[in-house]
Amino acid sequence: MKIVVTGGAGFIGGNFVYFLLKNHAEDFIICYDKLTYAGNLETLSDAMKSKNFKFIKGDIANRDEVYKMFEEEKPDVIVNFAAESHVDRSIEDPELFLRTNIIGTSILLDACKKFGIKRFHQVSTDEVYGDLPLDRPDLFFTEKTNLHTSSPYSASKASADLLVQAYHRTYKIPATISRCSNNYGPYHFPEKLIPLMIINALNNKKLPVYGKGINVRDWLYVEDHCAAIDLIIRNGKVGEIYNVGGHNEKTNIEVVKTILKILGKDENLIEFVTDRKGHDQRYAIDPTKISTELGWTPKTKFDDGIKKTVDWYLQNKSWWEKIISGEYKNYYAKMYDNR
Ligand code: NAD
Ligand code: DAU
Repeated sequence: MKIVVTGGAGFIGGNFVYFLLKNHAEDFIICYDKLTYAGNLETLSDAMKSKNFKFIKGDIANRDEVYKMFEEEKPDVIVNFAAESHVDRSIEDPELFLRTNIIGTSILLDACKKFGIKRFHQVSTDEVYGDLPLDRPDLFFTEKTNLHTSSPYSASKASADLLVQAYHRTYKIPATISRCSNNYGPYHFPEKLIPLMIINALNNKKLPVYGKGINVRDWLYVEDHCAAIDLIIRNGKVGEIYNVGGHNEKTNIEVVKTILKILGKDENLIEFVTDRKGHDQRYAIDPTKISTELGWTPKTKFDDGIKKTVDWYLQNKSWWEKIISGEYKNYYAKMYDNR
């Protein structure tokens, strides 16, 4: 199969490219990526050496570029990771999120309609369900939970999901959707909680924890997410949504303290800062459907995954040092100075 991975120069898309190259030597993989601030060709440097891989620079929200790629490559499968993905950036400036996440997805769907496709898979998020209260640990997101978004980011992802469902029903596009919880692992862009805390701790900088640090996220090692998507594109039922998560709920402060402990750093680096606007309290996925229907279970326990992740950042300093010494400095100052 010829599989186009949009957003494959980013965190999860990059890991997915490596997952496919490792597990499906019979497939040909194309990464189609605009290379925004979050896209990094260094992430794909090993993939570039494979005869089964090709990189194309392109924008999912540019119709001409997308149609050209479809005409020339004739993909069998599209896995759409390409997105603006950071909630804090969406709160500062929503418009780009609408362009990439909504218009971009609709253009990919139009291309599938025009040129044909065997499978279109939309990589969505548990954030489309909104949040759960902290005092109801018995509640979980299922595929039937209502959409109830909080941030411009999650609203844009929910809009994209609705378009995918509409194109499936109206034009019979063979589409699937996955909604995953928070990922962590190698190549995670430094703006997100786990890499930000690892990098700041290594640099003996303050660790900015929003509010009281009691918000809960359901962490999944990125390779387990990749395995779930791989199963869905091969064995998942067209028109279906699959929630992906591994019952690994942690408060933010627990995660930050675990990182400090692994690195042997002092907890006095922690600084509680002004909360995120509209901050979602708790995410928690019920993965019963994907487990029972497709046999998926996560392999990596949080204690092991977080150690592997910290180790990766220790072993790959040049990857993140280049990022944090560039434009990222301005972003960091804008978001965190005087917060
Ligand atoms: P990321 O920000 O690390 O990477 C996004 C990639 O998309 C980058 O390579 C970027 O260059 C590319 N991109 C952005 N706009 C583009 C455009 N217009 N055209 C082509 N490429 C473009 O994101 P991530 O964390 O890897 O997330 C990937 C996907 O998974 C997103 O759709 C996100 O909503 C979803 N998701 C993420 C998580 C998570 O915990 N990170 C969890 C669930 C779902
Ligand atoms: O649930 C899936 C989602 O997970 C994905 O759809 C998003 O693309 C991804 O970015 C992630 O969203 P979050 O907002 O949960 O992730 P983030 O790493 O930004 O924040 C995790 C938690 O940590 C959240 O409660 C906010 C908090 N936080 C974050 C940062 C960056 C802090 O306390 N301090 C920080 O500096």
